[in-house]
Amino acid sequence: MKIVSVVGARPQFIKCALLSREIRKFHKEVLIHTGQHYDYDMSRLFFEELSIPEPDYNLGIGSGSHGAQTGNMLVEIERVLTKEKPDMVLVYGDTNSTLAGALAGAKLHIPVAHVESGLRSFDKSMPEEVNRILTDHVSDLLFAPTKTAVDNLKKEGIKKGVHLTGDIMMDALLANLKIAEKSNILKNLEVEPKKYLLATVHRASNTDDVVKLKNIIQALSESGDKIIFPVHPRTEKIIRNDKLKSLAKGNLILTKPIGYIDFLWLQNNAKKILTDSGGIQKEAYMLGVPCITLRDNTEWVETVKSGWNVLSGTDKKKILDNIRNFRPHVKRERLFGDGKASKRIVQIINDFSV
Ligand code: UD1
Ligand code: UDP
Repeated sequence: MKIVSVVGARPQFIKCALLSREIRKFHKEVLIHTGQHYDYDMSRLFFEELSIPEPDYNLGIGSGSHGAQTGNMLVEIERVLTKEKPDMVLVYGDTNSTLAGALAGAKLHIPVAHVESGLRSFDKSMPEEVNRILTDHVSDLLFAPTKTAVDNLKKEGIKKGVHLTGDIMMDALLANLKIAEKSNILKNLEVEPKKYLLATVHRASNTDDVVKLKNIIQALSESGDKIIFPVHPRTEKIIRNDKLKSLAKGNLILTKPIGYIDFLWLQNNAKKILTDSGGIQKEAYMLGVPCITLRDNTEWVETVKSGWNVLSGTDKKKILDNIRNFRPHVKRERLFGDGKASKRIVQIINDFSV
């Protein structure tokens, strides 16, 4: 089969690395990078360190409003699909690149496969929730990472083409943790294992509302703990424009975004992780690091139910309280599969093609 895979944002590069390799053992893959993320440390860096094949097309769409960004992607992806005439379009996760890829494929009657299908936060004010729902409803193959995801799809009447595969981020983590042991990142940032916290913030709801972002930065600053905070470019722009840097005091260290291998090692050795990222909530769980989620809801509900993740919202007091007192002591179960999701997904694609 000829498969066009569409990626565009940081987490999608990480997700596609192993799956792309597996796909190419059996099929011809054409890789489209929409250009949604374009800074070196949000894009190229991941292609280099994870040996992701060079994209066949880089659409160079860049940043913009949701409509402009998604619409421009749709036009360009359709152009590529019309030229390449693939047998399948493969999309990952819940970004605007995901939706554009799925929609372009579906309108041209090309089967759409969705990796990380069935996630729901039940909060339609999140652009990601809209992207997830729409993508799932036009997909022919739906690769669900968890049982919850399968159930969510069932409740929306989607049963055909749904496969419980496990989570491909587990595959990525297991494949790279040994490599990460050689990382110098702790030394470079002058932190010691389990003596620092790790924080990330990039969710629109937390960055577009400057009061929320201020609360988070103040809570991190006042905790007294040493905190490493690799800043997403979206957040960096707001910190710069609204002059919030002066709020970052104490032991709070702001850095540029960090590569996956170093970031994995930073996560593995952190005392706790504070984040509004979807992927990082999961990785914290997989690594057994307590996670404080800077949101009021999550699509990764299992991590909260398990007792290893707590929803803290953006309330300063609540964040500080969790930094000081959140200590999960329940045993972790294997929630995200066995690290073989990529192999399972390709097997299902192989069966689909016969
Ligand atoms: C996007 C996804 C989000 C995902 C995140 C992963 C959507 C709607 N959101 O959010 O689901 O969790 O990626 O990181 O698709 N920018 C740069 N350089 C870059 C990329 C972005 O400066 O390389 C800045 C631009 O000012 C841009 C802003 O960040 O406007 C937001 O980027 P965008 O890709 O629209 O959304 P993210 O917040 O990155
Ligand atoms: N990540 C990274 N460097 C960073 C921050 C995150 O490599 O500085 C990785 C992280 O390990 C995870 C993924 O990026 O695998 C999560 O991406 P992000 O938080 O941007 O998006 P989300 O998962 O929320 O969509």
